[in-house]
Amino acid sequence: MPTIKILCSDSAFQLQAESLASRLNLPLLDSLENELNCGHTKVADYYLEYASNGLSLRSTIRGDHGPIRCDFTSGANTHRRKYGGGNGQAIAKAIGVSGKFTPKVLDLTAGMGGDSFVLATLGCQMLLLERNIIVHSLLDDGLQRADVAGTADSELAAIIGRIELLQADAIAYLSGLPPEPCSDIIYLDPMFPERKKSAKVKKEMQAFHGIVGADQDASELLDLALSRARYRVVVKRSGAARFLSDRAPSYSLEGKSTRFDVYARQKLPS
Ligand SMILES: C[S@@+](CC[C@H](N)C(=O)[O-])C[C@H]1O[C@@H](n2cnc3c(N)ncnc32)[C@H](O)[C@@H]1O
Repeated sequence: MPTIKILCSDSAFQLQAESLASRLNLPLLDSLENELNCGHTKVADYYLEYASNGLSLRSTIRGDHGPIRCDFTSGANTHRRKYGGGNGQAIAKAIGVSGKFTPKVLDLTAGMGGDSFVLATLGCQMLLLERNIIVHSLLDDGLQRADVAGTADSELAAIIGRIELLQADAIAYLSGLPPEPCSDIIYLDPMFPERKKSAKVKKEMQAFHGIVGADQDASELLDLALSRARYRVVVKRSGAARFLSDRAPSYSLEGKSTRFDVYARQKLPS
């Protein structure tokens, strides 16, 4: 597990940084220079830093990768929200979103929230679970900033209003519910097995892998999901990956570089 510290170089964010450090039980630094001057040759593998544009995870290795931050108010998420292709997108078809049906979706593996944001944009009511406390903190921060930005953007406010995030392990969460359907659709996107790629964006994925691990219990999660979804379970995989648990889906839909395996339980309402 890489070492992570909290960095607060801007006193405007001191309270948030202190609260995060105590919640995550991680050391709080006020500057990288001070830490190095104290004789430490390396601050940590990563630091979580608060700044005016939000909380970000940064590598201490020069040239490693850029800041990892959740951003629902600009960049790729906003571009996809505006020009992504609506209900024609593979993820929308896999979930079963249509003009007549905007399901409640339980996203068991929220990550940085990109997929859930797409589905909330299309009108789905989303409940997101994320167990990793670092990833949860980044996502929670991104959602809070989007909520603030929503005061000047009613469409964004409505989207964020459809998203609820819990810090929870999905296996424990589902195991604690009565054995009956708890959501129209259940969505899973466990970590792909790590692949060696050198492009900058892939380095971010590798950092994510280092912090989150390999999601070894994804098969158990699929079993539980199948017993709790009203209409279907959708599993996101990389294009060439084997079926999760080697369990053949009812059918698959191909996205740009990903595949959505659909496990149908019953016909969607029309
Ligand atoms: C590949 S990422 C998901 C990416 C996400 N679909 C997105 O659009 O950003 C997988 C995430 O699922 C989380 N995860 C895996 N198993 C989980 C479980 N049993 N409960 C909660 N979170 C889980 C991991 O911590 C990781 O952050």
